[in-house]
Amino acid sequence: MLIAGNWKMYKTASETVEFCAALRDAELGDVDVVVCPPYTSLHHAVALLAGTSVAVFAQSVHWGFDGAFTGEVSAAMLSELGVTGALVAHSERRQLFAETDETAAMRVEGALDGGLSVIACVGETEAERESGETETVLRRQVEALRAVVDEDHLDRLAVAYEPVWAIGTGRTATPEQADEAHALIKGLLDVPVLYGGSVKPDNAGELLGKQNVDGALVGGASLELDSFLEICRAAFLS
Ligand code: PGA
Repeated sequence: MLIAGNWKMYKTASETVEFCAALRDAELGDVDVVVCPPYTSLHHAVALLAGTSVAVFAQSVHWGFDGAFTGEVSAAMLSELGVTGALVAHSERRQLFAETDETAAMRVEGALDGGLSVIACVGETEAERESGETETVLRRQVEALRAVVDEDHLDRLAVAYEPVWAIGTGRTATPEQADEAHALIKGLLDVPVLYGGSVKPDNAGELLGKQNVDGALVGGASLELDSFLEICRAAFLS
């Protein structure tokens, strides 16, 4: 089970220090835990969580080693800091910052080649689900990744299924909807699949109990230590 907290554009460096100092002392059981702070907090998170089982990932990564790419950060830059992975193609990147299946694939390939682990995000919009296109969209998104990922790097890749209509809305997919989407994704790419979209302490157990759900990508509920730890505990029990 893998529980990843996506902090989005929340927590300054000092807030990160406070959170990670408390997380460092928490009992996490046999669950893989990842936090994804903003770039400005990565160094602090790595320093505080060194020697624990909690890994620190970035929220995106560029495909190149270096170059004239204003505003971007490379896998080499992250690795040198002690960051061991990155999210790629979160739906907010796709919707607000023009991330496409093509750039998502390039980022995933570059990050894996650069030695990072990757959680690659996929998911349909509400309109796509309502018009019966969920399967087509997921196939397109996952196949774009499959086309570039080296077999030898599969052990460092996970996919997060995040239906766009469930992110930050308080509406989760039902456990059955999640399980069905995860089964489809796993049929295309044999990697762990996390569910994301309004995962909270009170629904985590049900979602994580499904056969094809290998963990969760948690946004809002990862910002408070208590709710994040409750979700980690639910993962440990399922
Ligand atoms: P949420 O966000 O848990 O706040 O819905 C999930 C995500 O965006 O990864």
